[in-house]
Parts: sequence; C-alpha cells; structure tokens
Amino acid sequence: MQLHFNLHQHDFTAGLSLFDCAEALQIKVPTSCRKQGKCKECLVEITEGMEFLSPRTAEEAHLGQKFRLSCRCKIVSDTGVVRCHTMRRGEMRIERHAFELPTRTKNWRLDPCVTRDGDRILLDGVEIARSTAPIHGLAMDLGTTTVVIRLLNLETGEVVADASFENPQRFGGSDVMARIHFDTRDKSKLLQRTLVGYLSHAIEEFPVDPQAIYELVIAGNSTMRDLFFRLCVHSIGQSPYRSITELEMEEGKRGTTSLCELAGKLGVPIHPKARVYGLPIISGHVGADAAACMLAVDLANEERTVAVMDIGTNTELILGNKNKIFAASCPAGPAFEGGAVACGMPGLPGAIEKIKILDDGSVQVAVIGDTPAEGICGSGLVDLLSELLRTNRMATLGRFENGEDRFALDVKSDSPIYLTESDINELAQAKGANVAGLRVIFNDYGISFDDVDVFYLAGGFGRHLNVESSKRIGLIPNIPDEKIIQVGNAAIEGACMALLSRAKRNELETMARRVRHCRLEAHERFFDFFVEGCQFKPVEASFKPENA
Ligand code: FES
Repeated sequence: MQLHFNLHQHDFTAGLSLFDCAEALQIKVPTSCRKQGKCKECLVEITEGMEFLSPRTAEEAHLGQKFRLSCRCKIVSDTGVVRCHTMRRGEMRIERHAFELPTRTKNWRLDPCVTRDGDRILLDGVEIARSTAPIHGLAMDLGTTTVVIRLLNLETGEVVADASFENPQRFGGSDVMARIHFDTRDKSKLLQRTLVGYLSHAIEEFPVDPQAIYELVIAGNSTMRDLFFRLCVHSIGQSPYRSITELEMEEGKRGTTSLCELAGKLGVPIHPKARVYGLPIISGHVGADAAACMLAVDLANEERTVAVMDIGTNTELILGNKNKIFAASCPAGPAFEGGAVACGMPGLPGAIEKIKILDDGSVQVAVIGDTPAEGICGSGLVDLLSELLRTNRMATLGRFENGEDRFALDVKSDSPIYLTESDINELAQAKGANVAGLRVIFNDYGISFDDVDVFYLAGGFGRHLNVESSKRIGLIPNIPDEKIIQVGNAAIEGACMALLSRAKRNELETMARRVRHCRLEAHERFFDFFVEGCQFKPVEASFKPENA
C-alpha cells in the first residue's frame, strides 16, 4: 500500500511514527508485536523524503538503505513530502487455475497424503488429529519477489482461497545472492522469521480454522526453499552452487533433495503436527519451482518436445520430454518483476500492465484495478520497450534516439512515471540472461528453437506478456504463435498437484533425479549469448546447434 504524507497539509506532526501515520489513514501495517520494534514485520520502503525521518534505530540495523521499520521511524519535520509503501500484498493477479496445462485435462486421482478415517485425521496413514471438520492443505510458490499461497480442500481437491504478497525478505536484497549473503551473516534467521510472520497473517485471513490445515507443500527456488526450512544456504552462493540437500544426497546421507519438517518447528501457525514438504530441487539454482513446473506440464508422460520458460528474478528453463529432460536457471535479476527499475512494481493494483504509443505520440495505458497508476509492472515494461523500438524512439542497443535520458508517461498518477536509460540497461541485462539461458539449453540439447513442439510461458508475468511485444524485443524466440502457450503460474499448479496426489509426488521425486542440469555459469558460450541477448531485436528461431 502506497503512503504519501504531505507534512504541512496533514496532522502528521513531528514525533509521530510512520506506523501511527498509516493507522491514521486506516492503512494496515503487518505486525506481530504491536509497535514494540521486535517482530520486524512493519517494513516500509521509503521512495522519497528520507531526510524528514528520524535516524535509524538499533532495531533497524539489519535493513538496507531504503527500508525502515515504520514503528521505529518518526517524522522529524513539519514540512516536506514523505513517500513510502508497505510490502505490497493481496489482489495480485494470480490465476486460480493455470491455462491449457495437460494435467488439467488428463485423468488423475485425488490421493492426498492427509486422509480421514471417521474423525481421525491421518498423515501417511498415521493419526495426527481428531476432527470432523473438512481437512485442508496449503500449496505455496515461494518466489524471490512474490509469494503465492493457495488453500485447498483435501477431500474434494477444490481451491478454497488464495493469497499473495511481496516477499518481505526484500529488505535483505532483491536477488538470491544478496539473501544468501544476508542470511550467512545473520544468525537470528530473520529472513525466515519475517517471511513466516507475513505468511501467518495471510493464513489468519483465510476462511478456515488454521488448525484444520494439515500439510503445506512448498515450491520455490533452491535458496528460498532452504531458507524457509532454516537450512544453511551458504553453499548455494558458492561455486559449484549446491544446496546442502544436494551435497548430502551425493554423500549418500539422504535419498532425495526434498524436505519434510513439522509445521510447529518452522513456526507456521497451522496444525502443529502438520507436515511442511519442500518439493525436490533439481540441482544448483534449478530449484523446487522448476520441479513443480515439470509436474504441472506432465513432463513425465510427454511425448512431444516441450520447453518451459518461467520468467522471474531467477528464470527457470526446462526442455525435453519423457525420455530426456534438461533444465537451467538464469540469474536474470528482478527487473522484469519491477525491481531495479525506477518506476517498476509487481503486477498489483496500480501497475501499468499494457502500453501503446499512438501515432500522435500520446501514450495509451491499461492499469490493473480501478486506481491511479503507481508504476509499471513487467508486462507493461515489455510493452513499453517494444513500443519505443517500434516507433524508433529507442535503438536496439537501448539508447533513446532523441538524446534524452528518460521517457515520461503522461498518465493519471500521484507521482511521475517514466523509464530511464539506466532502467533500460537493467532490463537489457535481464533479457540477455534469459536469452543466453535459452540458447545454452537448446544448444546443449542439440535442437534449435524451431524444433520445439510447445513453448510454455509460465509464471504470473509470463501469463500476461504480450507475445508480439516479447518477440519484438527478443525476450522470447521468434517461433510461431501457435506453439506458444501462456500457462500462468505453473509452479503453484505443480505444488497443488503434489499436495493432492501422492502418486504425482512420487512421480516428481523420480523425475527430478533424471534431469540434466545445464550449468550456465560454466558454459563457454554463455557470455557471447548474453551480450547478443542484451540487444533489443528479435531472436531468430533457427540456428544450428553446435552439439548437433
Ligand atoms: S511493529 Fe513489530 S517491529 Fe514494528
């Protein structure tokens, strides 16, 4: 939620905390300690006016430059403007059902690990509770930038509710490497505790008793998943970039990279004997989110050659069929999720999601929700880049042709919305990493983009991308539209499948061991592909794979 305090126009007198000001505006700030400085949940990101706020307190020492604890930080001036926002949440456009996924059309049996025998609630056949109320489970897609949770009735398989929020761990950095660095220095597991605090608030708002939730299944990249389970993530940040579970499996200490823990032990406020199951990771940064996507597209039974591209802060790439599967993870950074871009934001109400530049030079936009524009989300940024290119306002190298350093959007908004050359540079690098990842994985597989039968664009961002714009700037290869399927959040879909079906969970455990991990960082051509991919121009679908 955006907060905007014009200090001389309101009764926001010096001495009030930002938390007090938000309360006066009836804006809810996450908290478990009621302004005691203990829970660290009342995070706000200051976008303007830090100079009108009190100096950082000891309780805020862990926070990055732009972040403050709203209960600790006080207004110290009677004039000026302070702009800030809480971690964004809710009403993010999460598709309740993924689109055109094979698992939606093929028969599968509802076969959850949590079952009922009269009033006995059983987990893997062992009694953990007694209740006659409906039994529920949670699936979570734990992303570096956004978190999506879905509540399901385990007796019917129906979706009861879903929720989403910006990952509050942003205070520890916007990408996985920064989070690993933060967690390695911080022995108090603050990243995990803060996330669990936000998750708890989301669970409290669900329309069922949290004690009637008996399993939580987590998909997420290797770092996000292991942080949630309070594992040491140091080894994921160091070459050869392996989760502790992967290392232990290699040493024969465990038979799978999947994780199980009691909810009570992790602080998740559902039934204390509920199980938290982390889907297996593939290898390195190719995590449980990629594994969940494989389940969602039914790769274990797929005859055709399919590609899955789940664009995010870490883009997951999967290529193959039931006989041969390759996977890679691209450290694309948060630019296409609205991070590292001056006016970027996640796909939430207030985000500009579509942009067109008209013949007279005016800009036509579509904003999510019935609200003034606050920023531009990923699909809007792709549209904007494409339109700047189409109207010759931007060159393929990302420079404005008129010599200016920014392009302003004349739209209804409380603050100016624009794109700078520095933003374009961030987006170019994110695109370059994604394209390079695609080139490497197809090259190693021995096929060109032309040879793929289905190209799934996964993720909330992928669902709303304009395909034509994406092809024009070269975010996706120039393959026929009929091969491209925008499937929505395949990772949460896969997590739901694993929650609802023991057979699917076992299928995934087996499949995960068969995947070949393409290590991008070690690939000799990665840098060449990256440099080429940074240019804003279409990516041709046919090339001769070097391994063919
Ligand atoms: S409200 Fe708990 S730290 Fe601010």
